[in-house]
Amino acid sequence: METVLITGGSGLIGSHLTKLLVAEGFTVRHLSRNNKPNAPVSTFSWDITKGLIDPRALQGVDHIIHLSGANLAGKRWTRARKQELLASRANAADLLREATAKAGTWPQTFISASGVNYYGTVTADHIFTEEEPAAGDFLGQLCRAWEAAADAWKPHCRVVKLRTPVVLARTGGALEKMAAPARMGLAAPLGSGKQWMPWVHIDDLARAYLHAIQRKDLQGAFNVAAPEQVRNLEFMHVLAKVLKRPFFLPPVPGLLLRMVLDGPGNLILNGSRAATGKLERTGFRYQFPQLKNALADLLG
Ligand SMILES: NC(=O)c1ccc[n+]([C@@H]2O[C@H](COP(=O)([O-])OP(=O)(O)OC[C@H]3O[C@@H](n4cnc5c(N)ncnc54)[C@H](OP(=O)(O)O)[C@@H]3O)[C@@H](O)[C@H]2O)c1
Repeated sequence: METVLITGGSGLIGSHLTKLLVAEGFTVRHLSRNNKPNAPVSTFSWDITKGLIDPRALQGVDHIIHLSGANLAGKRWTRARKQELLASRANAADLLREATAKAGTWPQTFISASGVNYYGTVTADHIFTEEEPAAGDFLGQLCRAWEAAADAWKPHCRVVKLRTPVVLARTGGALEKMAAPARMGLAAPLGSGKQWMPWVHIDDLARAYLHAIQRKDLQGAFNVAAPEQVRNLEFMHVLAKVLKRPFFLPPVPGLLLRMVLDGPGNLILNGSRAATGKLERTGFRYQFPQLKNALADLLG
Protein backbone atom coordinates (compact mmCIF):
# COMPACT_ATOMS: atom_id res chain seq x y z
CA MET A 1 0.00 0.00 0.00
CA GLU A 2 1.55 3.32 -1.06
CA THR A 3 1.38 6.50 0.99
CA VAL A 4 0.47 9.89 -0.49
CA LEU A 5 1.07 13.14 1.39
CA ILE A 6 -1.15 16.03 0.21
CA THR A 7 -0.40 19.65 1.13
CA GLY A 8 -3.58 21.74 1.31
CA GLY A 9 -5.47 18.44 1.27
CA SER A 10 -8.40 19.98 3.14
CA GLY A 11 -9.35 22.20 0.17
CA LEU A 12 -11.70 21.72 -2.75
CA ILE A 13 -9.38 19.60 -4.90
CA GLY A 14 -7.59 17.91 -1.99
CA SER A 15 -10.72 16.63 -0.27
CA HIS A 16 -12.07 15.20 -3.53
CA LEU A 17 -8.73 13.66 -4.45
CA THR A 18 -8.36 12.17 -0.96
CA LYS A 19 -11.63 10.24 -1.41
CA LEU A 20 -10.48 8.88 -4.78
CA LEU A 21 -7.02 7.86 -3.54
CA VAL A 22 -8.44 6.16 -0.42
CA ALA A 23 -10.94 4.27 -2.61
CA GLU A 24 -8.00 3.20 -4.83
CA GLY A 25 -6.21 1.72 -1.81
CA PHE A 26 -3.65 4.46 -1.02
CA THR A 27 -2.87 5.62 2.50
CA VAL A 28 -3.39 9.38 2.46
CA ARG A 29 -1.98 12.01 4.82
CA HIS A 30 -2.60 15.73 4.86
CA LEU A 31 -0.20 18.54 5.68
CA SER A 32 -2.20 21.46 7.04
CA ARG A 33 -1.81 24.80 8.79
CA ASN A 34 -4.41 23.81 11.37
CA ASN A 35 -5.12 20.78 13.43
CA LYS A 36 -8.39 19.51 11.96
CA PRO A 37 -10.16 17.23 14.46
CA ASN A 38 -12.68 15.99 11.88
CA ALA A 39 -10.15 15.39 9.09
CA PRO A 40 -10.87 12.16 7.17
CA VAL A 41 -7.17 11.13 7.20
CA SER A 42 -4.11 11.61 9.43
CA THR A 43 -3.25 15.29 9.42
CA PHE A 44 0.17 16.74 10.26
CA SER A 45 0.92 20.40 10.81
CA TRP A 46 3.25 22.86 9.13
CA ASP A 47 3.83 26.58 9.40
CA ILE A 48 5.23 28.01 6.19
CA THR A 49 6.02 31.46 7.62
CA LYS A 50 7.95 29.95 10.55
CA GLY A 51 9.54 27.22 8.40
CA LEU A 52 8.18 24.35 10.53
CA ILE A 53 6.96 20.87 9.50
CA ASP A 54 6.01 17.95 11.71
CA PRO A 55 8.74 15.47 10.59
CA ARG A 56 6.37 12.50 11.08
CA ALA A 57 4.44 13.71 8.02
CA LEU A 58 7.36 12.74 5.75
CA GLN A 59 8.10 9.25 7.05
CA GLY A 60 7.58 6.54 4.42
CA VAL A 61 5.91 8.82 1.86
CA ASP A 62 5.82 7.44 -1.71
CA HIS A 63 4.20 10.43 -3.47
CA ILE A 64 3.68 14.08 -2.57
CA ILE A 65 0.86 16.12 -4.06
CA HIS A 66 1.34 19.85 -3.54
CA LEU A 67 -1.97 21.70 -3.53
CA SER A 68 -1.51 24.32 -0.83
CA GLY A 69 -2.09 27.90 -1.86
CA ALA A 70 -3.87 30.99 -0.58
CA ASN A 71 -7.05 31.52 -2.60
CA LEU A 72 -6.57 33.65 -5.73
CA ALA A 73 -10.16 34.91 -5.73
CA GLY A 74 -11.92 37.01 -3.16
CA LYS A 75 -9.27 39.28 -1.66
CA ARG A 76 -7.69 42.24 -3.46
CA TRP A 77 -4.14 41.62 -4.64
CA THR A 78 -2.26 44.01 -2.39
CA ARG A 79 1.51 43.64 -2.19
CA ALA A 80 1.14 41.61 1.03
CA ARG A 81 -1.50 39.38 -0.54
CA LYS A 82 0.68 38.75 -3.60
CA GLN A 83 3.50 37.70 -1.26
CA GLU A 84 1.12 35.31 0.54
CA LEU A 85 -0.08 33.85 -2.79
CA LEU A 86 3.55 33.15 -3.71
CA ALA A 87 4.80 31.93 -0.32
CA SER A 88 1.90 29.49 0.15
CA ARG A 89 2.88 27.80 -3.14
CA ALA A 90 6.58 28.26 -4.01
CA ASN A 91 8.09 28.80 -0.53
CA ALA A 92 5.90 25.95 0.73
CA ALA A 93 7.38 23.54 -1.87
CA ASP A 94 10.91 24.71 -0.92
CA LEU A 95 10.25 24.19 2.79
CA LEU A 96 8.95 20.70 2.12
CA ARG A 97 11.99 19.87 -0.04
CA GLU A 98 14.42 21.08 2.62
CA ALA A 99 12.62 19.07 5.31
CA THR A 100 12.64 15.98 3.07
CA ALA A 101 16.39 16.40 2.43
CA LYS A 102 16.95 16.53 6.20
CA ALA A 103 14.85 13.39 6.69
CA GLY A 104 17.07 11.70 4.09
CA THR A 105 14.47 9.72 2.10
CA TRP A 106 12.87 11.02 -1.08
CA PRO A 107 9.43 10.14 -2.46
CA GLN A 108 9.09 8.57 -5.93
CA THR A 109 6.98 11.46 -7.20
CA PHE A 110 6.35 15.15 -6.55
CA ILE A 111 3.17 16.38 -8.25
CA SER A 112 2.32 20.06 -8.08
CA ALA A 113 -0.80 21.99 -8.95
CA SER A 114 -0.28 24.91 -11.31
CA GLY A 115 -2.66 27.07 -13.32
CA VAL A 116 -3.40 27.65 -16.99
CA ASN A 117 -2.81 31.29 -16.08
CA TYR A 118 0.84 30.28 -16.58
CA TYR A 119 0.18 31.51 -20.14
CA GLY A 120 -1.11 34.87 -18.89
CA THR A 121 -4.40 36.46 -17.94
CA VAL A 122 -5.17 37.34 -21.53
CA THR A 123 -7.97 36.82 -24.03
CA ALA A 124 -6.54 35.55 -27.30
CA ASP A 125 -7.59 33.07 -29.95
CA HIS A 126 -4.26 31.29 -29.64
CA ILE A 127 -4.42 27.82 -28.05
CA PHE A 128 -1.60 27.58 -25.54
CA THR A 129 0.55 24.42 -25.42
CA GLU A 130 2.80 23.28 -22.58
CA GLU A 131 5.94 24.24 -24.54
CA GLU A 132 5.16 27.97 -24.39
CA PRO A 133 6.88 30.27 -21.90
CA ALA A 134 5.28 31.76 -18.81
CA ALA A 135 3.61 35.13 -19.32
CA GLY A 136 5.10 38.27 -17.80
CA ASP A 137 1.98 39.28 -15.82
CA PHE A 138 1.50 38.57 -12.13
CA LEU A 139 -0.21 35.18 -12.49
CA GLY A 140 2.20 34.04 -15.20
CA GLN A 141 5.13 34.83 -12.93
CA LEU A 142 3.42 33.29 -9.91
CA CYS A 143 2.93 30.03 -11.84
CA ARG A 144 6.52 30.18 -13.12
CA ALA A 145 7.91 30.48 -9.57
CA TRP A 146 5.49 27.78 -8.30
CA GLU A 147 6.62 25.37 -11.05
CA ALA A 148 10.31 26.26 -10.54
CA ALA A 149 9.92 25.25 -6.89
CA ALA A 150 8.44 21.93 -8.09
CA ASP A 151 11.28 21.46 -10.62
CA ALA A 152 13.82 21.84 -7.79
CA TRP A 153 12.72 18.31 -6.72
CA LYS A 154 13.90 16.89 -10.09
CA PRO A 155 17.35 15.68 -8.96
CA HIS A 156 15.60 13.49 -6.39
CA CYS A 157 12.33 12.25 -7.92
CA ARG A 158 9.86 12.41 -10.80
CA VAL A 159 8.12 15.80 -11.09
CA VAL A 160 4.71 16.41 -12.69
CA LYS A 161 2.92 19.79 -12.88
CA LEU A 162 -0.78 19.90 -13.65
CA ARG A 163 -1.81 23.25 -15.17
CA THR A 164 -5.41 23.59 -14.10
CA PRO A 165 -8.24 25.80 -15.35
CA VAL A 166 -11.47 26.61 -13.45
CA VAL A 167 -12.46 23.49 -11.50
CA LEU A 168 -16.17 22.65 -11.60
CA ALA A 169 -17.49 20.92 -8.48
CA ARG A 170 -20.86 20.25 -6.83
CA THR A 171 -20.03 22.43 -3.83
CA GLY A 172 -17.35 25.07 -3.43
CA GLY A 173 -15.24 26.78 -6.05
CA ALA A 174 -16.34 28.91 -8.98
CA LEU A 175 -19.38 26.90 -10.11
CA GLU A 176 -21.23 27.34 -6.81
CA LYS A 177 -20.70 31.12 -7.09
CA MET A 178 -21.90 31.22 -10.71
CA ALA A 179 -24.82 28.82 -10.19
CA ALA A 180 -26.32 30.76 -7.24
CA PRO A 181 -27.45 33.81 -9.28
CA ALA A 182 -28.23 31.59 -12.29
CA ARG A 183 -30.69 29.57 -10.16
CA MET A 184 -32.48 32.86 -9.43
CA GLY A 185 -32.75 33.57 -13.15
CA LEU A 186 -29.79 35.99 -13.07
CA ALA A 187 -27.30 34.23 -15.37
CA ALA A 188 -25.38 36.83 -17.36
CA PRO A 189 -22.08 37.03 -19.19
CA LEU A 190 -19.24 38.64 -17.25
CA GLY A 191 -17.71 41.65 -19.00
CA SER A 192 -17.62 41.19 -22.77
CA GLY A 193 -18.34 37.46 -22.39
CA LYS A 194 -15.75 36.90 -25.14
CA GLN A 195 -13.06 35.59 -22.77
CA TRP A 196 -12.37 31.86 -23.09
CA MET A 197 -13.18 29.86 -19.96
CA PRO A 198 -11.27 26.58 -19.96
CA TRP A 199 -12.68 24.28 -17.25
CA VAL A 200 -12.39 20.75 -15.86
CA HIS A 201 -14.85 18.53 -13.96
CA ILE A 202 -13.44 17.79 -10.50
CA ASP A 203 -13.72 14.01 -11.05
CA ASP A 204 -11.52 14.31 -14.16
CA LEU A 205 -8.98 16.45 -12.32
CA ALA A 206 -8.78 13.96 -9.43
CA ARG A 207 -8.35 11.16 -12.00
CA ALA A 208 -5.55 13.17 -13.66
CA TYR A 209 -3.65 13.27 -10.34
CA LEU A 210 -4.16 9.49 -9.98
CA HIS A 211 -2.94 9.05 -13.58
CA ALA A 212 0.17 11.11 -12.73
CA ILE A 213 0.91 8.79 -9.78
CA GLN A 214 0.29 5.57 -11.70
CA ARG A 215 2.01 6.39 -15.01
CA LYS A 216 5.59 6.20 -13.80
CA ASP A 217 6.93 7.60 -17.09
CA LEU A 218 4.97 10.86 -16.82
CA GLN A 219 6.95 14.00 -16.10
CA GLY A 220 6.82 17.72 -16.81
CA ALA A 221 3.88 20.06 -17.32
CA PHE A 222 0.43 19.02 -18.54
CA ASN A 223 -2.68 21.12 -19.16
CA VAL A 224 -5.69 19.43 -17.53
CA ALA A 225 -8.65 21.06 -19.28
CA ALA A 226 -11.72 19.47 -20.83
CA PRO A 227 -11.41 19.36 -24.64
CA GLU A 228 -14.57 21.44 -25.22
CA GLN A 229 -13.57 24.97 -24.27
CA VAL A 230 -16.08 27.78 -24.51
CA ARG A 231 -16.24 31.54 -24.11
CA ASN A 232 -17.81 33.00 -20.94
CA LEU A 233 -20.98 33.96 -22.85
CA GLU A 234 -21.54 30.37 -23.94
CA PHE A 235 -20.61 29.00 -20.52
CA MET A 236 -23.29 31.15 -18.86
CA HIS A 237 -25.79 30.23 -21.56
CA VAL A 238 -25.22 26.48 -21.06
CA LEU A 239 -25.36 26.96 -17.26
CA ALA A 240 -28.77 28.68 -17.53
CA LYS A 241 -30.00 25.96 -19.89
CA VAL A 242 -28.93 23.10 -17.60
CA LEU A 243 -30.64 24.86 -14.67
CA LYS A 244 -33.70 25.53 -16.88
CA ARG A 245 -33.50 29.24 -16.11
CA PRO A 246 -33.68 32.26 -18.42
CA PHE A 247 -30.65 33.85 -20.02
CA PHE A 248 -31.45 37.30 -21.25
CA LEU A 249 -29.67 39.70 -18.88
CA PRO A 250 -27.22 42.36 -20.06
CA PRO A 251 -23.58 41.56 -19.30
CA VAL A 252 -22.17 42.42 -15.85
CA PRO A 253 -19.91 45.41 -16.62
CA GLY A 254 -16.21 44.53 -16.55
CA LEU A 255 -15.36 47.88 -14.98
CA LEU A 256 -17.57 47.05 -11.99
CA LEU A 257 -15.92 43.66 -11.53
CA ARG A 258 -12.47 45.26 -11.77
CA MET A 259 -13.41 47.85 -9.13
CA VAL A 260 -14.86 45.30 -6.73
CA LEU A 261 -12.20 42.66 -7.35
CA ASP A 262 -8.88 44.30 -8.08
CA GLY A 263 -6.67 41.48 -9.44
CA PRO A 264 -9.21 38.64 -9.22
CA GLY A 265 -11.48 40.76 -11.47
CA ASN A 266 -8.98 40.42 -14.32
CA LEU A 267 -8.89 36.69 -13.70
CA ILE A 268 -12.62 36.46 -14.44
CA LEU A 269 -12.60 38.90 -17.34
CA ASN A 270 -9.77 37.33 -19.35
CA GLY A 271 -8.94 33.87 -20.54
CA SER A 272 -7.54 31.79 -23.40
CA ARG A 273 -7.72 28.16 -24.42
CA ALA A 274 -5.22 25.54 -23.27
CA ALA A 275 -4.27 22.63 -25.55
CA THR A 276 -5.31 19.27 -24.10
CA GLY A 277 -3.59 16.78 -26.40
CA LYS A 278 -0.39 16.20 -24.39
CA LEU A 279 -2.15 14.56 -21.43
CA GLU A 280 -4.53 12.63 -23.71
CA ARG A 281 -1.56 11.24 -25.65
CA THR A 282 -0.39 9.60 -22.39
CA GLY A 283 -3.63 7.59 -22.31
CA PHE A 284 -5.74 9.88 -20.13
CA ARG A 285 -9.42 10.06 -21.13
CA TYR A 286 -11.79 12.77 -19.89
CA GLN A 287 -15.07 11.33 -18.56
CA PHE A 288 -16.61 14.78 -19.00
CA PRO A 289 -15.22 16.28 -22.22
CA GLN A 290 -18.33 18.42 -22.85
CA LEU A 291 -19.64 21.28 -20.74
CA LYS A 292 -23.32 20.38 -20.93
CA ASN A 293 -22.73 16.86 -19.60
CA ALA A 294 -20.37 18.09 -16.89
CA LEU A 295 -22.85 20.70 -15.65
CA ALA A 296 -25.77 18.26 -15.82
CA ASP A 297 -23.77 15.80 -13.69
CA LEU A 298 -22.78 18.44 -11.12
CA LEU A 299 -26.03 20.40 -10.93
CA GLY A 300 -28.62 17.79 -11.83
N1 LIG B 1 -10.05 25.37 -7.72
C1 LIG B 1 -9.64 25.83 -8.89
O1 LIG B 1 -10.49 26.24 -9.75
C2 LIG B 1 -8.17 25.87 -9.24
C3 LIG B 1 -7.79 26.19 -10.55
C4 LIG B 1 -6.43 26.24 -10.87
C5 LIG B 1 -5.48 25.98 -9.90
N2 LIG B 1 -5.88 25.67 -8.64
C6 LIG B 1 -4.82 25.47 -7.62
O2 LIG B 1 -4.91 24.18 -7.05
C7 LIG B 1 -4.55 24.25 -5.65
C8 LIG B 1 -5.69 23.65 -4.83
O3 LIG B 1 -6.89 24.35 -5.19
P1 LIG B 1 -8.22 24.26 -4.31
O4 LIG B 1 -9.32 24.76 -5.17
O5 LIG B 1 -8.34 22.93 -3.67
O6 LIG B 1 -7.91 25.37 -3.23
P2 LIG B 1 -8.58 25.60 -1.81
O7 LIG B 1 -9.90 24.92 -1.70
O8 LIG B 1 -8.52 27.07 -1.54
O9 LIG B 1 -7.58 24.82 -0.85
C9 LIG B 1 -6.22 25.15 -0.77
C10 LIG B 1 -5.66 24.67 0.57
O10 LIG B 1 -4.40 25.33 0.74
C11 LIG B 1 -4.20 25.64 2.11
N3 LIG B 1 -3.96 27.08 2.24
C12 LIG B 1 -4.83 28.10 2.07
N4 LIG B 1 -4.24 29.29 2.31
C13 LIG B 1 -2.97 29.00 2.64
C14 LIG B 1 -1.85 29.80 3.03
N5 LIG B 1 -1.93 31.12 3.12
N6 LIG B 1 -0.70 29.16 3.29
C15 LIG B 1 -0.60 27.81 3.20
N7 LIG B 1 -1.62 27.01 2.88
C16 LIG B 1 -2.78 27.61 2.60
C17 LIG B 1 -5.48 25.25 2.86
O11 LIG B 1 -5.25 24.03 3.55
P3 LIG B 1 -5.07 24.01 5.16
O12 LIG B 1 -6.11 24.93 5.73
O13 LIG B 1 -5.35 22.58 5.49
O14 LIG B 1 -3.69 24.44 5.44
C18 LIG B 1 -6.50 25.05 1.76
O15 LIG B 1 -7.45 24.06 2.11
C19 LIG B 1 -4.32 25.72 -5.33
O16 LIG B 1 -2.95 25.98 -5.30
C20 LIG B 1 -4.99 26.45 -6.47
O17 LIG B 1 -4.39 27.70 -6.78
C21 LIG B 1 -7.19 25.61 -8.28
